[in-house]
Amino acid sequence: MLETLGGISDERGALTRTFLSPAMRRANRLVGTWMREAGLAVREDTVGNLIGRLEIRPGAKTLLLGSHLDTVRHAGKYDGPVGVLLPLLALENLRRRGVRLPFNVEVIGFSEEEGVRFDTGYLGSEGYCGWLKAGTLAMKDAAGVTVGAALKDFNGGRFKPPPAAHRRGELLGYVEVHIEQGPVLEARRLAVGVVAAIAGQSRFRITWTGRAGHAGTTPMRLRRDALTGAAEFALGIEAVARRTPGLVATVGVIEVPSGAGNVIPGEAVHALDVRHASDRLRRRALVKLGRIAQTIARRRGLAVKWERTQDNSAVACSPALTARLNRSVKSVQGRTLKLVSGAGHDGVVVSSIAPVAMLFVRCRGGLSHHPDEFASPSDLGVALAVLTDFLQRMGEEK
Ligand code: GLV
Ligand code: MN
Ligand code: MN
Repeated sequence: MLETLGGISDERGALTRTFLSPAMRRANRLVGTWMREAGLAVREDTVGNLIGRLEIRPGAKTLLLGSHLDTVRHAGKYDGPVGVLLPLLALENLRRRGVRLPFNVEVIGFSEEEGVRFDTGYLGSEGYCGWLKAGTLAMKDAAGVTVGAALKDFNGGRFKPPPAAHRRGELLGYVEVHIEQGPVLEARRLAVGVVAAIAGQSRFRITWTGRAGHAGTTPMRLRRDALTGAAEFALGIEAVARRTPGLVATVGVIEVPSGAGNVIPGEAVHALDVRHASDRLRRRALVKLGRIAQTIARRRGLAVKWERTQDNSAVACSPALTARLNRSVKSVQGRTLKLVSGAGHDGVVVSSIAPVAMLFVRCRGGLSHHPDEFASPSDLGVALAVLTDFLQRMGEEK
Protein backbone atom coordinates (compact mmCIF):
# COMPACT_ATOMS: atom_id res chain seq x y z
CA MET A 1 0.00 0.00 0.00
CA LEU A 2 2.83 2.41 0.87
CA GLU A 3 4.54 1.68 -2.44
CA THR A 4 1.36 2.19 -4.47
CA LEU A 5 0.46 5.38 -2.65
CA GLY A 6 4.07 6.57 -2.95
CA GLY A 7 3.69 6.33 -6.73
CA ILE A 8 0.94 8.97 -6.74
CA SER A 9 2.75 12.23 -7.34
CA ASP A 10 2.41 15.61 -8.99
CA GLU A 11 5.92 15.18 -10.39
CA ARG A 12 7.45 12.57 -12.64
CA GLY A 13 10.29 10.62 -11.03
CA ALA A 14 9.82 12.07 -7.53
CA LEU A 15 7.13 12.01 -4.86
CA THR A 16 5.54 15.44 -4.37
CA ARG A 17 1.90 15.65 -3.28
CA THR A 18 0.74 19.01 -2.03
CA PHE A 19 -2.52 20.46 -0.73
CA LEU A 20 -5.50 19.97 -3.11
CA SER A 21 -3.28 19.04 -6.06
CA PRO A 22 -4.42 16.50 -8.68
CA ALA A 23 -2.19 13.84 -7.05
CA MET A 24 -3.76 14.59 -3.67
CA ARG A 25 -7.21 13.96 -5.16
CA ARG A 26 -6.04 10.67 -6.70
CA ALA A 27 -4.44 9.63 -3.40
CA ASN A 28 -7.72 10.32 -1.58
CA ARG A 29 -9.62 8.20 -4.09
CA LEU A 30 -7.22 5.27 -3.63
CA VAL A 31 -7.06 5.44 0.17
CA GLY A 32 -10.85 5.87 0.15
CA THR A 33 -11.22 2.48 -1.56
CA TRP A 34 -8.93 0.91 1.06
CA MET A 35 -11.00 2.52 3.81
CA ARG A 36 -14.19 1.07 2.32
CA GLU A 37 -12.57 -2.36 2.13
CA ALA A 38 -11.79 -2.00 5.85
CA GLY A 39 -15.51 -1.51 6.46
CA LEU A 40 -15.50 2.26 6.94
CA ALA A 41 -18.02 4.79 5.62
CA VAL A 42 -15.93 7.28 3.66
CA ARG A 43 -16.32 11.00 3.07
CA GLU A 44 -14.12 13.93 2.13
CA ASP A 45 -14.65 17.17 4.04
CA THR A 46 -14.54 20.63 2.47
CA VAL A 47 -10.84 21.00 3.32
CA GLY A 48 -9.91 17.81 1.46
CA ASN A 49 -9.47 15.62 4.54
CA LEU A 50 -10.34 11.99 3.86
CA ILE A 51 -12.41 10.52 6.67
CA GLY A 52 -13.37 6.88 7.15
CA ARG A 53 -15.83 6.20 9.94
CA LEU A 54 -16.74 2.99 11.70
CA GLU A 55 -20.03 3.74 13.40
CA ILE A 56 -20.62 1.24 16.17
CA ARG A 57 -23.61 3.02 17.59
CA PRO A 58 -24.87 6.61 17.49
CA GLY A 59 -24.08 8.45 20.70
CA ALA A 60 -21.04 6.29 21.50
CA LYS A 61 -17.77 8.16 21.86
CA THR A 62 -15.29 8.25 18.98
CA LEU A 63 -11.61 7.43 18.84
CA LEU A 64 -9.66 9.28 16.13
CA LEU A 65 -6.74 7.63 14.34
CA GLY A 66 -4.77 9.17 11.50
CA SER A 67 -2.03 11.28 10.00
CA HIS A 68 -1.50 13.22 6.77
CA LEU A 69 -1.50 12.28 3.08
CA ASP A 70 0.36 15.32 1.70
CA THR A 71 4.15 15.29 1.33
CA VAL A 72 7.13 17.60 1.12
CA ARG A 73 8.85 18.06 -2.27
CA HIS A 74 10.80 14.95 -3.30
CA ALA A 75 9.51 13.12 -0.28
CA GLY A 76 9.74 9.60 1.10
CA LYS A 77 6.74 7.26 1.16
CA TYR A 78 6.36 6.87 4.93
CA ASP A 79 5.99 10.33 6.48
CA GLY A 80 2.23 10.56 6.95
CA PRO A 81 0.72 7.55 5.13
CA VAL A 82 1.92 5.09 7.80
CA GLY A 83 -0.48 6.67 10.30
CA VAL A 84 -3.43 6.46 7.90
CA LEU A 85 -2.86 2.90 6.63
CA LEU A 86 -1.87 1.07 9.84
CA PRO A 87 -5.23 1.82 11.49
CA LEU A 88 -7.00 0.17 8.53
CA LEU A 89 -4.91 -2.99 9.03
CA ALA A 90 -5.44 -2.87 12.80
CA LEU A 91 -9.22 -2.74 12.29
CA GLU A 92 -8.91 -5.68 9.91
CA ASN A 93 -6.93 -7.61 12.57
CA LEU A 94 -9.71 -6.97 15.09
CA ARG A 95 -12.37 -8.06 12.65
CA ARG A 96 -10.47 -11.30 11.99
CA ARG A 97 -10.22 -11.91 15.74
CA GLY A 98 -13.95 -11.31 16.09
CA VAL A 99 -13.39 -8.26 18.34
CA ARG A 100 -16.19 -5.67 18.27
CA LEU A 101 -15.18 -2.29 19.64
CA PRO A 102 -17.72 -0.52 21.85
CA PHE A 103 -16.79 2.93 20.46
CA ASN A 104 -16.85 4.57 17.05
CA VAL A 105 -13.59 4.94 15.15
CA GLU A 106 -12.67 7.64 12.66
CA VAL A 107 -9.57 7.21 10.50
CA ILE A 108 -8.42 10.52 9.02
CA GLY A 109 -6.02 11.22 6.16
CA PHE A 110 -5.36 14.92 6.71
CA SER A 111 -5.05 16.86 3.47
CA GLU A 112 -2.24 19.19 4.53
CA GLU A 113 0.38 19.01 7.27
CA GLU A 114 3.70 19.86 5.66
CA GLY A 115 3.24 23.53 4.83
CA VAL A 116 4.73 23.21 1.36
CA ARG A 117 2.23 24.93 -0.91
CA PHE A 118 1.32 27.84 1.38
CA ASP A 119 4.39 28.10 3.65
CA THR A 120 2.15 27.21 6.59
CA GLY A 121 1.33 23.73 7.81
CA TYR A 122 -1.64 21.97 9.47
CA LEU A 123 -4.29 23.31 7.07
CA GLY A 124 -6.03 19.90 7.07
CA SER A 125 -6.18 19.49 10.84
CA GLU A 126 -7.02 23.19 11.30
CA GLY A 127 -10.02 22.71 9.03
CA TYR A 128 -11.04 19.52 10.85
CA CYS A 129 -10.76 21.20 14.26
CA GLY A 130 -12.61 24.38 13.19
CA TRP A 131 -9.55 26.66 13.34
CA LEU A 132 -9.28 28.01 9.80
CA LYS A 133 -9.08 31.78 10.19
CA ALA A 134 -9.34 34.69 7.71
CA GLY A 135 -5.60 35.35 7.99
CA THR A 136 -4.81 31.79 6.93
CA LEU A 137 -7.36 31.86 4.09
CA ALA A 138 -5.62 34.98 2.72
CA MET A 139 -2.17 33.35 2.51
CA LYS A 140 -0.87 32.86 -1.04
CA ASP A 141 1.03 30.10 -2.82
CA ALA A 142 3.86 30.75 -5.30
CA ALA A 143 1.32 31.37 -8.09
CA GLY A 144 -0.54 33.99 -6.00
CA VAL A 145 -3.55 31.71 -5.33
CA THR A 146 -4.90 32.15 -1.80
CA VAL A 147 -5.85 29.29 0.52
CA GLY A 148 -9.43 30.57 0.34
CA ALA A 149 -9.48 30.60 -3.49
CA ALA A 150 -7.95 27.10 -3.66
CA LEU A 151 -10.63 25.83 -1.27
CA LYS A 152 -13.39 27.56 -3.22
CA ASP A 153 -12.19 25.89 -6.39
CA PHE A 154 -11.96 22.51 -4.61
CA ASN A 155 -15.58 22.90 -3.47
CA GLY A 156 -17.00 23.89 -6.84
CA GLY A 157 -17.11 27.67 -6.26
CA ARG A 158 -18.20 27.97 -2.66
CA PHE A 159 -16.36 27.62 0.62
CA LYS A 160 -17.08 28.49 4.23
CA PRO A 161 -14.56 27.50 6.94
CA PRO A 162 -16.06 24.42 8.60
CA PRO A 163 -16.82 24.21 12.33
CA ALA A 164 -14.93 21.59 14.38
CA ALA A 165 -15.83 18.06 13.25
CA HIS A 166 -16.42 17.04 16.90
CA ARG A 167 -16.93 18.49 20.32
CA ARG A 168 -14.18 17.57 22.77
CA GLY A 169 -16.58 15.64 25.00
CA GLU A 170 -17.52 13.18 22.27
CA LEU A 171 -13.94 12.07 21.62
CA LEU A 172 -11.93 9.39 23.41
CA GLY A 173 -8.70 10.66 21.92
CA TYR A 174 -6.51 10.85 18.85
CA VAL A 175 -3.74 8.33 18.21
CA GLU A 176 -1.18 8.91 15.47
CA VAL A 177 1.43 6.41 14.32
CA HIS A 178 4.36 8.08 12.53
CA ILE A 179 7.92 7.28 11.58
CA GLU A 180 10.34 8.78 14.09
CA GLN A 181 12.18 10.90 11.47
CA GLY A 182 15.18 10.87 13.82
CA PRO A 183 17.90 8.47 14.97
CA VAL A 184 16.98 7.66 18.59
CA LEU A 185 15.02 4.40 18.16
CA GLU A 186 17.68 3.05 15.82
CA ALA A 187 20.42 3.87 18.33
CA ARG A 188 18.43 2.18 21.10
CA ARG A 189 17.65 -0.84 18.89
CA LEU A 190 13.91 -0.47 19.30
CA ALA A 191 11.24 -0.81 16.61
CA VAL A 192 8.80 1.59 18.28
CA GLY A 193 8.56 4.15 21.08
CA VAL A 194 5.97 6.56 22.45
CA VAL A 195 5.97 10.33 22.17
CA ALA A 196 5.89 12.42 25.34
CA ALA A 197 5.64 15.82 23.66
CA ILE A 198 5.86 17.62 20.33
CA ALA A 199 8.22 20.61 20.08
CA GLY A 200 6.85 24.10 19.43
CA GLN A 201 7.46 25.65 16.05
CA SER A 202 7.58 29.12 14.49
CA ARG A 203 7.79 29.72 10.77
CA PHE A 204 8.38 33.00 8.94
CA ARG A 205 8.73 34.50 5.49
CA ILE A 206 11.45 37.15 5.68
CA THR A 207 11.97 39.78 2.99
CA TRP A 208 15.20 41.78 2.64
CA THR A 209 15.05 44.87 0.47
CA GLY A 210 18.08 46.74 -0.85
CA ARG A 211 18.64 48.28 -4.26
CA ALA A 212 19.02 46.45 -7.55
CA GLY A 213 21.79 47.68 -9.82
CA HIS A 214 24.33 46.84 -12.47
CA ALA A 215 26.67 43.99 -11.50
CA GLY A 216 29.49 45.32 -13.67
CA THR A 217 29.47 49.02 -12.86
CA THR A 218 28.46 49.39 -9.18
CA PRO A 219 31.49 49.43 -6.85
CA MET A 220 31.23 46.95 -3.97
CA ARG A 221 31.07 49.62 -1.27
CA LEU A 222 28.11 51.37 -2.90
CA ARG A 223 25.93 48.28 -3.06
CA ARG A 224 22.87 47.44 -1.00
CA ASP A 225 22.73 43.74 -1.84
CA ALA A 226 19.64 42.08 -0.34
CA LEU A 227 20.91 38.54 -0.94
CA THR A 228 24.22 38.96 0.89
CA GLY A 229 22.28 40.46 3.82
CA ALA A 230 19.99 37.43 3.86
CA ALA A 231 22.99 35.11 3.53
CA GLU A 232 24.75 36.76 6.48
CA PHE A 233 21.56 36.36 8.49
CA ALA A 234 21.32 32.65 7.55
CA LEU A 235 24.80 32.15 9.02
CA GLY A 236 23.76 34.12 12.12
CA ILE A 237 20.72 31.88 12.53
CA GLU A 238 22.92 28.80 12.28
CA ALA A 239 25.35 30.19 14.87
CA VAL A 240 22.55 30.96 17.37
CA ALA A 241 21.04 27.48 16.93
CA ARG A 242 24.43 25.82 17.38
CA ARG A 243 25.03 27.75 20.59
CA THR A 244 21.58 27.04 22.07
CA PRO A 245 21.06 23.48 23.33
CA GLY A 246 17.91 21.92 21.90
CA LEU A 247 17.25 24.73 19.40
CA VAL A 248 16.97 23.88 15.70
CA ALA A 249 16.62 26.59 13.07
CA THR A 250 16.50 26.23 9.31
CA VAL A 251 16.46 28.45 6.24
CA GLY A 252 14.99 25.94 3.80
CA VAL A 253 14.12 28.28 0.92
CA ILE A 254 15.80 31.42 -0.38
CA GLU A 255 14.81 33.29 -3.49
CA VAL A 256 15.78 36.43 -5.41
CA PRO A 257 12.56 37.49 -7.13
CA SER A 258 13.32 38.68 -10.66
CA GLY A 259 17.01 37.99 -10.10
CA ALA A 260 19.54 37.68 -12.91
CA GLY A 261 23.25 36.87 -13.06
CA ASN A 262 24.25 40.45 -13.92
CA VAL A 263 21.94 42.27 -11.50
CA ILE A 264 22.70 43.08 -7.86
CA PRO A 265 19.85 41.50 -5.89
CA GLY A 266 17.42 44.21 -4.83
CA GLU A 267 15.22 41.79 -2.93
CA ALA A 268 15.72 38.42 -1.25
CA VAL A 269 13.00 36.36 0.38
CA HIS A 270 13.64 33.39 2.60
CA ALA A 271 11.91 31.05 4.99
CA LEU A 272 12.83 30.53 8.62
CA ASP A 273 11.75 27.56 10.74
CA VAL A 274 12.64 27.64 14.47
CA ARG A 275 11.83 24.87 16.97
CA HIS A 276 12.47 24.01 20.60
CA ALA A 277 10.80 21.72 23.12
CA SER A 278 10.60 24.77 25.44
CA ASP A 279 8.35 27.58 24.22
CA ARG A 280 10.22 30.03 26.46
CA LEU A 281 13.59 29.21 24.90
CA ARG A 282 12.12 29.28 21.37
CA ARG A 283 10.70 32.76 21.99
CA ARG A 284 13.93 33.95 23.55
CA ALA A 285 15.85 32.74 20.47
CA LEU A 286 13.42 34.61 18.20
CA VAL A 287 14.08 37.87 20.05
CA LYS A 288 17.82 37.29 19.61
CA LEU A 289 17.38 36.55 15.88
CA GLY A 290 15.30 39.71 15.47
CA ARG A 291 18.16 41.78 16.91
CA ILE A 292 20.73 40.12 14.65
CA ALA A 293 18.59 40.84 11.58
CA GLN A 294 18.25 44.51 12.60
CA THR A 295 22.02 44.86 13.06
CA ILE A 296 22.71 43.35 9.64
CA ALA A 297 20.05 45.50 7.99
CA ARG A 298 21.42 48.70 9.53
CA ARG A 299 25.02 47.99 8.61
CA ARG A 300 24.14 47.06 5.04
CA GLY A 301 21.50 49.74 4.39
CA LEU A 302 18.72 47.20 3.94
CA ALA A 303 15.12 46.90 5.12
CA VAL A 304 13.97 43.63 6.63
CA LYS A 305 10.34 42.53 7.02
CA TRP A 306 9.17 39.50 9.00
CA GLU A 307 5.86 37.75 8.29
CA ARG A 308 4.91 35.01 10.70
CA THR A 309 3.37 32.14 8.73
CA GLN A 310 2.99 29.62 11.53
CA ASP A 311 3.27 29.52 15.30
CA ASN A 312 2.51 26.48 17.43
CA SER A 313 3.33 25.99 21.08
CA ALA A 314 4.83 22.72 22.25
CA VAL A 315 2.17 20.10 22.95
CA ALA A 316 2.35 17.51 25.70
CA CYS A 317 0.76 14.18 24.82
CA SER A 318 -2.03 12.99 27.13
CA PRO A 319 -0.50 11.10 30.10
CA ALA A 320 -3.53 8.79 30.37
CA LEU A 321 -3.72 7.85 26.69
CA THR A 322 0.08 7.59 26.46
CA ALA A 323 0.12 5.23 29.47
CA ARG A 324 -2.29 2.93 27.61
CA LEU A 325 -0.13 3.04 24.49
CA ASN A 326 2.98 2.38 26.60
CA ARG A 327 1.39 -0.69 28.07
CA SER A 328 0.75 -2.08 24.59
CA VAL A 329 4.32 -1.25 23.54
CA LYS A 330 5.67 -3.12 26.57
CA SER A 331 3.47 -6.10 25.92
CA VAL A 332 4.49 -6.36 22.23
CA GLN A 333 8.13 -5.21 22.36
CA GLY A 334 9.12 -5.96 25.96
CA ARG A 335 10.69 -2.51 26.43
CA THR A 336 9.49 0.99 25.79
CA LEU A 337 11.04 4.41 25.32
CA LYS A 338 9.63 7.95 25.55
CA LEU A 339 10.73 10.45 22.93
CA VAL A 340 10.19 14.13 22.24
CA SER A 341 9.22 14.89 18.66
CA GLY A 342 11.15 17.67 16.95
CA ALA A 343 8.90 17.22 13.92
CA GLY A 344 5.44 18.74 13.84
CA HIS A 345 2.41 16.45 13.64
CA ASP A 346 -1.34 16.73 13.07
CA GLY A 347 -1.70 15.89 16.77
CA VAL A 348 -0.54 19.43 17.61
CA VAL A 349 -3.80 20.85 16.26
CA VAL A 350 -6.02 17.88 17.15
CA SER A 351 -4.92 18.31 20.80
CA SER A 352 -7.34 21.27 20.83
CA ILE A 353 -10.31 18.88 20.61
CA ALA A 354 -8.99 15.54 21.95
CA PRO A 355 -6.33 13.99 24.18
CA VAL A 356 -3.45 12.91 21.95
CA ALA A 357 -0.99 10.00 21.96
CA MET A 358 1.64 9.11 19.37
CA LEU A 359 3.58 5.98 18.47
CA PHE A 360 6.91 6.40 16.68
CA VAL A 361 8.36 3.75 14.35
CA ARG A 362 12.10 3.42 13.74
CA CYS A 363 13.25 4.65 10.33
CA ARG A 364 16.54 3.80 8.65
CA GLY A 365 19.35 6.20 9.54
CA GLY A 366 16.76 8.53 11.11
CA LEU A 367 16.29 9.87 7.58
CA SER A 368 13.09 11.67 6.59
CA HIS A 369 11.95 14.40 4.16
CA HIS A 370 14.14 12.51 1.68
CA PRO A 371 13.28 9.94 -1.03
CA ASP A 372 15.39 7.28 0.77
CA GLU A 373 13.15 7.43 3.87
CA PHE A 374 12.50 3.80 4.94
CA ALA A 375 10.83 1.87 7.76
CA SER A 376 11.13 -1.91 7.57
CA PRO A 377 8.07 -4.15 7.15
CA SER A 378 9.01 -5.90 10.39
CA ASP A 379 9.11 -2.61 12.36
CA LEU A 380 5.81 -1.56 10.80
CA GLY A 381 4.54 -5.00 11.86
CA VAL A 382 5.51 -4.24 15.46
CA ALA A 383 3.67 -0.91 15.24
CA LEU A 384 0.62 -2.69 13.83
CA ALA A 385 0.68 -5.24 16.68
CA VAL A 386 0.92 -2.38 19.21
CA LEU A 387 -1.97 -0.48 17.65
CA THR A 388 -4.12 -3.63 17.46
CA ASP A 389 -3.37 -4.46 21.10
CA PHE A 390 -4.10 -0.87 22.12
CA LEU A 391 -7.49 -0.86 20.37
CA GLN A 392 -8.47 -4.26 21.69
CA ARG A 393 -7.61 -3.38 25.31
CA MET A 394 -9.31 -0.02 25.02
CA GLY A 395 -12.42 -1.86 23.81
CA GLU A 396 -12.30 -4.31 26.68
CA GLU A 397 -11.87 -1.54 29.26
CA LYS A 398 -14.42 0.93 27.95
C1 GLV B 1 6.58 18.28 9.30
O1 GLV B 1 7.06 17.25 8.87
C2 GLV B 1 7.44 19.18 9.99
O2 GLV B 1 7.80 18.88 11.14
O3 GLV B 1 7.84 20.18 9.40
MN1 MN C 1 4.58 13.84 8.99
MN1 MN D 1 6.91 15.72 7.17
